[in-house]
Amino acid sequence: MTEVAENPLLAGLRMRRPPDPCALTIFGASGDLTQRKVMPALYALAFRHLLPESFGVVGVSRTEMTVDEFRERMRQAVIEHARDEFRTDVWERLAGGLHYVEGNFGIEGGEDELVAVLNDLDETHGTAGNRVYYLAVPPEAFDDIVTAMGRRRRADGWTRLVVEKPFGYDLASAQELNALLRTYYEEHEIFRIDHYLGKETVQNMLVLRFANGIFEPIWNRQFIDHVQITVAESLGIEGRAGFYEKAGAIRDVVQNHLLQLVALTAMEPPIDFAAESVRNEKVKVLKALHTPGPKHVVRGQYGGGFIEGEEVPGYREEEGVAADSQTETYVAAKLYVDNWRWADTPFYIRTGKRLPRRETTIAIQFKRAPHPPFEVDLESPLRPNVLLIHIQPDEGVSLAIGAKVPGQGLSIRTVHMDFLYGGAFRVGLPEAYERLILDCLLGDATLFTRADEVEEQWAIVDAMVAPWRRDRPHFPNYAAGTWGPGAADELLHRDGRSWRRH
Ligand code: BG6
Repeated sequence: MTEVAENPLLAGLRMRRPPDPCALTIFGASGDLTQRKVMPALYALAFRHLLPESFGVVGVSRTEMTVDEFRERMRQAVIEHARDEFRTDVWERLAGGLHYVEGNFGIEGGEDELVAVLNDLDETHGTAGNRVYYLAVPPEAFDDIVTAMGRRRRADGWTRLVVEKPFGYDLASAQELNALLRTYYEEHEIFRIDHYLGKETVQNMLVLRFANGIFEPIWNRQFIDHVQITVAESLGIEGRAGFYEKAGAIRDVVQNHLLQLVALTAMEPPIDFAAESVRNEKVKVLKALHTPGPKHVVRGQYGGGFIEGEEVPGYREEEGVAADSQTETYVAAKLYVDNWRWADTPFYIRTGKRLPRRETTIAIQFKRAPHPPFEVDLESPLRPNVLLIHIQPDEGVSLAIGAKVPGQGLSIRTVHMDFLYGGAFRVGLPEAYERLILDCLLGDATLFTRADEVEEQWAIVDAMVAPWRRDRPHFPNYAAGTWGPGAADELLHRDGRSWRRH
C-alpha cells in the first residue's frame, strides 16, 4: 500500500470507498446494450460486492412487459453475457431490487409511474433519493427523457446522468445536446460514455507513462519518430445498418475512441488523477490537433472477401445498406499535435471493419539509432525500437529491441520484451462497463468525456468530413479480410514509412 500513499496517480485509481445508496434507472432496457453490457456489468459488480448495500435498478422501455418477464430476460442476459459463473445467490441479491416500467416520456405525466417506483425504492430499499439515469436510447429519445426527469428533480439526494454514444452527429448537434443536458444538470452530474476509457489497458497507458520514470523523458519529438494507432475489427456491421449508414467509421470510432487514444498518448502529465486535471490535459491535446487536409485522410468501404477462410459479403450487400452506399467503413489519417512536445511528429490513425483481425494497438516508434557501429546486414536491417501497447486482444505492452543473434558473426535481430496482463496478474480483466458504472456510482467522472472534450472531437471530425461532400469515392475499395485501401499505405509510404504488420 505504500506506493498508493506516495503516488497520487495510483491513489486515484485504487483507493475506493463504497458507493452511496442509490437507484439506477436504465432507459432503453429492452435494448441490446442493456442485455449485452449493462446488466452483465451490474452482475459482475454484485458478484464482487462492489454495489451499494442499498441499491435498486429500474428498467424502462416502451416494450410491454411485466416485472417478472423483465427479470427473466435480464437473468438470461446475465447467463449469456456475464464473465462470471451464474450464481443464484448473487443474482437474487441483484434481482430483489430489479423493477420494470413501461414508459412514454413524450406525453404529459409519462414519467409518473417511474417516479412512483423510484420513490417506493427509497422506502423499501433505502436508496435515499439518489438517482442515476442511464440513457441507453437513441439520441432522438434524449430530449423527452431528460426534460421529463429534469423537471421532476428532487431537492434531496444527488442525481447523475449517464449518456451513451453517439453524442450527436456533428459539432452543432453535440452543442445542442450539451445545452439540453445543462438545462437540468450540471457538468459534474453528466457522465458521457466512451467505453474505451473503461478498458484496463487504456487506463494503463496513464500508469505506464506517469508511474514509470523512464518513459516521460523520451516521450516527445526528440526521440519518437511517429505514432501509429490502430483500431481494427474483423467483424462487419452486425445488423446495425440503420445506425451505421448514417455514422460511418469516422463518427462510430474516430470521433470518440480513436481521438481519445490520441489524447491519452499525447497529453501532458496531469497534476493529479482528478477528473478535471486529466480532462483538462486531454482537451489541450484536442485543441492542438491540426486538422488534416484531404490528402491526409483516406476512407474506404469493404467489398466481399474472406475472413479467416470464410466468405463474407461486401458492405453494400449487408442487410439495410443502400446498394450505392457512400458510407465509409474504414478511415486512416495523419494528424499532427501542434505543440512543443509533438511538433512535426505524425500520429497515423486507422480504423476499419472487416480487416483481417481484431486488434487495437498504440505503437510508439522511436527514432533509429543514430550511428550503429556495426556493419549493416542488408538482409535484416537494424529496425527502430517500438513500444507497442496492446489494448486488445492479448492485452499487454511489448518493447521491440535489437539483439545479437548467438553465433560467430554479428547478426542482429529484433526481439520483444513482453508484459502480458494474463501472465503477470492471472486475473480476468474487468469489462469496461463495470469500471464505468462503478465510477459513476462513486461520482468519479475521470473516465467520462467532458462537454468541451466531446465538442473538440466533433470539430475535428467536421473538418475532416467537410471535403467529402464534394466528391464521390470509388467504393468498394478494399476487400474484406485485407488491411484497407491502397491509399492508406500510400499515406505512409509518401513519408518513407509503413503501417506495422505483424
Ligand atoms: C463501438 C462501435 O463504439 O465500439 C462499434 O459502435 C465497435 O462499431 C465497437 O464495434 C468496438 O468496441 P470494442 O470494445 O469491441 O473494441
